[in-house]
Amino acid sequence: MKILFLGDIVGDTGFKSVKKSLPKIISKKEIDFVCVNGENAATEGVGLTENIANELFNAGVDVITTGNHVWDQKEIYEFIKDENKLLRPLNMIGDLPGKGFSVYNSKKNLKVGVLNLMGNVFMKKCDDVFKTAYEFISKKKISKDYDFLIVDFHGEITSEKMAIGKLFDGHATLVVGTHTHVPTNDARVLNNGTGYITDAGMCGDYDSVIGMNAQNSLNKFLKKESSKHFPSNGEASLSGVVVECDIVSGLAKNIESFIYGGSLKSIN
Ligand SMILES: [Fe+2]
Ligand SMILES: [Fe+2]
Repeated sequence: MKILFLGDIVGDTGFKSVKKSLPKIISKKEIDFVCVNGENAATEGVGLTENIANELFNAGVDVITTGNHVWDQKEIYEFIKDENKLLRPLNMIGDLPGKGFSVYNSKKNLKVGVLNLMGNVFMKKCDDVFKTAYEFISKKKISKDYDFLIVDFHGEITSEKMAIGKLFDGHATLVVGTHTHVPTNDARVLNNGTGYITDAGMCGDYDSVIGMNAQNSLNKFLKKESSKHFPSNGEASLSGVVVECDIVSGLAKNIESFIYGGSLKSIN
C-alpha cells in the first residue's frame, strides 16, 4: 500500500502539471491513494474552483485538503457542502460548510482516514490545534475507524509541525506539513511508526517567491509599485512524499521525498 501526498498546488502551472503527470506517476510508482493540498490551485493562486477540483479527481486524486486560502474562490462554499473528497481544516472557527475529516476507500479497498488541521501560530485564528488533535486521537483509532490515517497539518512554523508529528506518532500513517510552499529535507519514520515531513513543498514554479511572481513580490518587499500577488507560471516542480504503509499495523514502513519536473532537482 503506497500513498502519494503532494503539497500546495499553486496556480495554472501547478494544476496543469499535476493533471498531466499524475496518471503516469500513479502507474509507475504503483500508488494506491493520492492526497493533494489544493488551496492555491486557482488561476489567481488562491483558493480552488469546482472545475479544478473535479479535474484533479479525474486525474487520480482521491482527496483534496486545503488551508487558510480555502474560501478565496467564493463558489467553493457551495461545492464543499456536497463534495466529500474536498476537506478544509477541522479546527476552523465559525459556522462554515464542509468538514475536516473523512474516511475514503483506496484502490485496494482499504480505508484511509484523512484529517486536515491548521496551526495557530502566524495563521488565521482557529481553535487550539493541539486540543483538537488530542481529542481526535482519543476518539479515533487505526484499525477501528480506518486502516490508515493521513494528517495534513497546514502551518507556518516548524516547531508546531514537529510537535504535531510527535503527538500523532503511532496514531497516524503520515503527518505531513503544508503551507510554507518550501519542501523540507527531513522525511523520516518517527519512533512509533508515523511517516513525517515538516513541509511537503508546493506543486508550482520554484523560480518565484513561494509560487508567486518574483519581481512583483520583490517590488512589494522593496515598497516599490506592485500589483496583487499573482502566480509565476514557469514550469512547475511537483513536490511531496511517497509513503509505503504496513497493512497490518497501518503505520509507515518507509517515507521518501518526491520531487518531479521543473527547476528543483528531481527525487523520484
Ligand atoms: Fe499554500
Ligand atoms: Fe496556506
